[in-house]
Amino acid sequence: MKVLLSKEDLHDGVMRMADKIAACYENRQLTIVGVLTGSVVLMADLIRLLDLPMRVGVLQASSYRGATTTRGELVINSELMLDISGRDVLLVDDIFDTGHTLVQVLDKMREFGPTSIRSAVLLRKHGRQEVDYRPDFVAFDIPDEFVVGYGLDYEDMYRNLPYLAALEPDDIARHEATMAETQM
Ligand code: IMP
Ligand code: MG
Repeated sequence: MKVLLSKEDLHDGVMRMADKIAACYENRQLTIVGVLTGSVVLMADLIRLLDLPMRVGVLQASSYRGATTTRGELVINSELMLDISGRDVLLVDDIFDTGHTLVQVLDKMREFGPTSIRSAVLLRKHGRQEVDYRPDFVAFDIPDEFVVGYGLDYEDMYRNLPYLAALEPDDIARHEATMAETQM
């Protein structure tokens, strides 16, 4: 796999984003909500870099299947989420691609009456956006390639890679072969 962002690049970018977030919420209590599952690695690093009083929660949004870019129906499960009414909320996700996921999740969250709601993403993919919304905090802009690692998956695999890599056709063929060997 072609490495796009090394472990060190990721750390530096997340730290720069954390500084901007900290400056924005100075002296406020923050409620951070991560979108499962792609945001878990970013969440773990980001919350430890933010020296702010905070509550941490999650919600689940799922639509994508595999490396296809066709959109399935988005299912949002906010039952896991903590109470956000009257709170300053920061929604955290792995990647802003078409943007539909973040926009729909934000709409859903507004129903719960937060005082303010902003968004932070690790990645924004170049030239893919289909919505009239921009995330408030973006750690990296990347080219239009399918990427895995640091929380991002291909068929639920590779989230644990400490770097970010582009998944190329050869990698997908190798993935299929490995899965066939290692699965029951
Ligand atoms: P959007 O609704 O098109 O912005 O898609 C957002 C979701 O699609 C992300 O939270 C990811 O789960 C998934 N996604 C989009 N691009 C990629 C990618 O390159 N690798 C892995 N997942 C991706
Ligand atoms: Mg996701």
